[in-house]
Amino acid sequence: MARKPRETFGSRMGMLLAMAGSAIGLGNIWRFPYTLGKNGGAAFLLIYVIMLLFICLPVMISEYLIGRRGGSNPFRTFDRLAPGSRWRWMGFIAVLASACILSFYCVVGGWSVKYLDDACSGRLMGYEGDYAQFFGSFISSPWKPLAYTLLFLGMTGLIIAFGVRKGIERMSKIMISVLFVIIVLVVIRSLSLPGAVEGVRYMFVPDFSKVTADTCIAAMGQAFFSLSIGCGTILTYASYVHKDENIAASSAWIAFFDTAFAVIAGLAIIPAVYAIALMNGTDPDVSAGPGLVFITLPGVFQSMPLGGVAAVLFFLALLLAAITSAISLMEVVVAFIIEELHRSRMRAVLLSFVLCGGVGVFCSLSFGPLEGFRLFGLSVFDFFDYITSNIMLPVGGLLLAIFAGWRLRRANYLDELTNGGSLKLPRWLALTIYYLVKLVAPLAISLIFLNCILS
Ligand code: PFF
Repeated sequence: MARKPRETFGSRMGMLLAMAGSAIGLGNIWRFPYTLGKNGGAAFLLIYVIMLLFICLPVMISEYLIGRRGGSNPFRTFDRLAPGSRWRWMGFIAVLASACILSFYCVVGGWSVKYLDDACSGRLMGYEGDYAQFFGSFISSPWKPLAYTLLFLGMTGLIIAFGVRKGIERMSKIMISVLFVIIVLVVIRSLSLPGAVEGVRYMFVPDFSKVTADTCIAAMGQAFFSLSIGCGTILTYASYVHKDENIAASSAWIAFFDTAFAVIAGLAIIPAVYAIALMNGTDPDVSAGPGLVFITLPGVFQSMPLGGVAAVLFFLALLLAAITSAISLMEVVVAFIIEELHRSRMRAVLLSFVLCGGVGVFCSLSFGPLEGFRLFGLSVFDFFDYITSNIMLPVGGLLLAIFAGWRLRRANYLDELTNGGSLKLPRWLALTIYYLVKLVAPLAISLIFLNCILS
């Protein structure tokens, strides 16, 4: 029986929005503002942008390039590009990393479904007690968060079941466009509150006294997580991209869009937190950790005019952002199952659902019945968050850089970047990218790790 030809993205715009959809997610709206808050505001932003330009962007270009050249799931791609070597196990680990991320990601995705549901029904704004209690009693109850987690994962699976063009590309296009409009509306509302300017100042005036070795690892982890690099999602999406695509330009565009979105999401949240704290005569708590979005913000919405509408829009934005990223994670696992275990797309989706949902159940329960259970001193949820973002993704990035810089031939790398010379990428720029990947990125990632281990 003839094999079906491999699917591809239908248009350049669709491909860019799908990749941007993977990058823009909870990392931008949920993780970025509180990581920024904890690490000195603008000082963190500055380090973040430096990491992005000199380490993450070159690694992203390489992951893209490897994916397009290999034209398959991570496991097979490495096997094709380095036949018979151990590199294919690096591909396999990337598939595992994606599954691990999805397992805790879907828990927070589930929370956003619950909050959207409550914002629409008026339960959220009508709540009269303390939001820490509201959030705490929800996440620690055994069944409710589980149901929302599985619902979120189910929605993700449903989109993927429709395939690359009809599912991933079409939904990413719609969702990212809606997301952008919504977040701009929320920013306007947030910035128009009296006292909001204090929050803007906090974001853009650096406080270097909070910068430590941990800040660098946090910035690097955040950049890898936010750009979705190091665990095969860019690689897998790139395998659906046409050969005439300008890899460097697309990557730069996605990185820019992702960073701009993180800053915009910060502008939607931090100035509002400042303004309302000022109004209530309390201290603004922008470093409240994961609770910032689910505890501090509902209180902020409750205190501001038109807050009910802002809450619905905000949690809808959070959900859309989470889903477009979750589909990219699940697609890595699905592509692997389809191509290596020879299952249909539908079965592959079901299998991924069972696998990630199974681990997701433990992540979700770690806020309630399994709270006392620790892995290396961390709850199951924190364990998966920490080892994936701060270890697996940067190590994945390190190995990708080593593969691209030392295993691929320089001529092939440059050839892929310039489409055999037909694309007008200045040679000095192509060479700079190549040497950043070959020398700077591996060295910098290793040094940051070393510094963190020793400090
Ligand atoms: N980039 C996504 C976010 O910012 O939420 C999360 C993510 C997606 C991380 C895909 C890694 C990944 F492979």
